[in-house]
Amino acid sequence: METEIIRIGRAGLDREEFTEAEEKALLRAGEIIRVGGLVAFPTETVYGLGGDALNPGSSRRIYAAKGRPSDNPLIIHIDRFEDIYRIAGQVPEAAVRLAEAFWPGPLTMILPKAPEVPPETTGGLETVAVRLPSHPVARRLIRYGGGYVAAPSANLSGRPSPTVARYVIEDMQGRVEAIVDGGEVGIGLESTIVDLTVNPPQILRPGYVTEKKLAAVLGQVAVDPAVIAPGGEAPRAPGMKYRHYAPRGELVIVEGEPGKVAAYVNSRAAEERAAGHRTGAIATKEMHGQYGTDVVKYIGNREDEETIARNLFAVLREFDDEEVVKIYSESFSSEGLGQAIMNRLLKAAGHHVVRV
Ligand code: TXA
Ligand code: MG
Repeated sequence: METEIIRIGRAGLDREEFTEAEEKALLRAGEIIRVGGLVAFPTETVYGLGGDALNPGSSRRIYAAKGRPSDNPLIIHIDRFEDIYRIAGQVPEAAVRLAEAFWPGPLTMILPKAPEVPPETTGGLETVAVRLPSHPVARRLIRYGGGYVAAPSANLSGRPSPTVARYVIEDMQGRVEAIVDGGEVGIGLESTIVDLTVNPPQILRPGYVTEKKLAAVLGQVAVDPAVIAPGGEAPRAPGMKYRHYAPRGELVIVEGEPGKVAAYVNSRAAEERAAGHRTGAIATKEMHGQYGTDVVKYIGNREDEETIARNLFAVLREFDDEEVVKIYSESFSSEGLGQAIMNRLLKAAGHHVVRV
């Protein structure tokens, strides 16, 4: 399949208005979705792989394009709040309050599903995941695509979610009708998922909308224990059980005082080098100069969690071009946005943590 690449200029994104040529291209992309095709597009969290959520054939094609197991449900993206009533069987008052506080934005709500949503889209579940994103390209495409766009992250199953179009092209060229390139995403980690079908509501996947922000609106909010803990209980968001985000080298998180972390990483790196293996480190600004690994990737300033979140998936992907066998990462605080960062990092490392 020939994949069309549609480029949206920075000016349009900043002003939230597009040139005539861009509008036409987005209309065409929406039409592709309406007739059962797939279009990858930017959102404020990560790039999504969009298809018509009410068309079972589109959902089947999404699973095939990603190589994703079909029991892993998709998030339905909408462009207007009132559209929720067609896909959710019940919209509790808490959902309305969350929407007022965080939509459009990086929050997904789990609600009972309406009959019209095909089981292919929800992986056979009786619940549905709904999100109203804020990215201007995503909004246009959802509207032009018929109003209900199922969109998982636009990566091959198991790989880090794409934060720039280059990585979408790497994974999806030849598998989808079109890819909309809208530059780098703002947040870099997927949306927070909160399940409103249980009491108290439960966070199934941490993200930019933190536990604290949710609690301020909901009063009480629980966190699925599988979010940070290794193994044990099965996570309640089916997708969270799969090996995820994993780079080709083996990732190890090293936790401890900065000096000890550097000493540990450097001694392991020396051993690997003696065995003829290349190694890498994921480093904060504070530690950047201290690693003797073959490759050092800078992830941001320790104090600036937003930048670390935005860079994490790109750094994991960049390591795939480096032929390293071991990658060492510093650990981060699991408060606030750090909860989402550590959740993704732990999954990428298969929960391999060394305390020094
Ligand atoms: O930020 C995002 O949410 C991105 C962008 C493209 O919007 N999308 C995204 O989709 O991350 P995906 O498919 O990569 O992750 C969706 C997660 C999976 O872990 C899935 O199991 C969970 O949401 N999920 C979807 N529907 C669910 C449901 N009804 N109950 C529980 N978990 C659900
Ligand atoms: Mg994903």
